[in-house]
Amino acid sequence: MNHPIEQFQHWWQQAKADPTLKQRSAVCISTLDAQGFPVGRFVDLKAADQNGFTFCTHLNSQKGADLRRNPKVAMTAWWDSLGYQVRVAGLAAEISRADANRYWQSRNRDAQLTTLACQQSQPLASMQSIKDELTTLGTHYQEQAIPLPDNWGGFIIRPLSIEFLTFAQSRLHLREFYQYEQGVWHKTLLQP
Ligand SMILES: Cc1cc2nc3c(=O)[nH]c(=O)nc-3n(C[C@H](O)[C@H](O)[C@H](O)COP(=O)(O)O)c2cc1C
Repeated sequence: MNHPIEQFQHWWQQAKADPTLKQRSAVCISTLDAQGFPVGRFVDLKAADQNGFTFCTHLNSQKGADLRRNPKVAMTAWWDSLGYQVRVAGLAAEISRADANRYWQSRNRDAQLTTLACQQSQPLASMQSIKDELTTLGTHYQEQAIPLPDNWGGFIIRPLSIEFLTFAQSRLHLREFYQYEQGVWHKTLLQP
């Protein structure tokens, strides 16, 4: 395959169809903090298409603040049973509120309530106070749709490079590296 987005979709489809994998959409997102240190964490990949790679999060979280300060980002996936690793580097942009709302509506109610009750990445004073807040919110929104909060949304990573690694026991991995230059993807093979 000579188009990296199509290759990613093909690999992700294989991962999604693999019953031995528990986490089929978990990808590590690495941002740069205010001191320039890389910070990685897993998120749930929502979409991968010609526009880029989309995930959702609290916008005021550490990753949200990092990406608003510096859109340079890396995304790494590893599908153990398939022996596939993917590394993406690119620039992140916030998705539209309409798209965020579409993803918000697809979340279960408990996840929505937890988002409302938490300020992700802030120090936790008491888990009990969050549980109390969840109970209050649960009563408040009983039988009502929970609207998209302002501080929740998503980012799309517009890729500048993508590397696909096919793992080999001999360590003679296949590494296919794509770089986006002037609107065209260029492919190079890298030594393992
Ligand atoms: C498998 C897995 C999936 C996760 N998915 C998400 C996600 O989609 N969005 C999110 O904000 N956090 C997700 N988390 C939690 C993040 O890893 C992280 O703890 C949280 O977003 C706070 O990160 P930050 O403080 O660096 O912003 C997930 C964690 C795991 C282990």
